[in-house]
Amino acid sequence: MGEGLRGSIETTGLTMIYRSGKVEVPAIREINLTVGPGEFVAIMGPSGCGKSTLLHLLGGLVRPTRGQVLIDGIDIAKLSDAERTAVRREKVGYIFQRFNLLPNISARANIELAKRIHGNGHANLYKDDHILALLGIKEKIGFRPTELSGGEQQRVAIARAVINQPSILLADEPTGNLDSHNSRLVLTLLQDLNQRLGQTIVMITHDSEAASMANHVIEMRDGRILARTHHFVYEPEFEGLF
Ligand SMILES: Nc1ncnc2c1ncn2[C@@H]1O[C@H](COP(=O)(O)OP(=O)(O)OP(=O)(O)O)[C@@H](O)[C@H]1O
Ligand SMILES: [Mg+2]
Repeated sequence: MGEGLRGSIETTGLTMIYRSGKVEVPAIREINLTVGPGEFVAIMGPSGCGKSTLLHLLGGLVRPTRGQVLIDGIDIAKLSDAERTAVRREKVGYIFQRFNLLPNISARANIELAKRIHGNGHANLYKDDHILALLGIKEKIGFRPTELSGGEQQRVAIARAVINQPSILLADEPTGNLDSHNSRLVLTLLQDLNQRLGQTIVMITHDSEAASMANHVIEMRDGRILARTHHFVYEPEFEGLF
């Protein structure tokens, strides 16, 4: 991926080792991954294999132990915390596995805060109200997260991440707490953002129906990428390339 491309992600030798006292936990081991602009990639794999850690690294939430993370050609692993945050705010929307909503302000205030932090200058395919209606949370927008169900909080977190329609969307199990009806609403929205806006999406999921929305599925095991498949068609020539 060259510089200046919108919504491209590239990692080389990406490694993350957590340390607690004398114990080292290698969570990500030498991952080389390329996600081109406008690609929709699903990441699957067993609990603890490093999926959330990889997404945190791609989004510049944490600094890797070793290796590069290029976002539109910029190596965010080399940046200061403040510079990395600036790149993230400009380019990345993040749906956290544990939502990370501020508990004591309303859903609306959570979303407005994200809008203010991330600023304007993003795509404007959808009006805010349309996003809330699509996600079925328009009536709940005055409530605080503590007053919402898990699935409602999840949809507020999704609205917060997509409201600015950034070029890259990183989603950590966005349908993990949703019933099949709401899962479908969310997946349709993500697919639409991907197809109509050309948004690059990396989505962690345990759900094969959700993964089938993606162009590629990446299988992770033990901090490594086992295989990258295209629409579930196994292509042996990909093995070892990623
Ligand atoms: N902050 C941390 N400090 C120390 N170890 C951590 C930390 N975060 C994650 N780990 C460890 O790194 C490994 C990968 O964790 P990660 O959360 O990335 O897994 P995951 O694939 O997202 O799992 P799940 O499907 O359960 O969400 C695990 O062994 C975990 O215990
Ligand atoms: Mg996780």
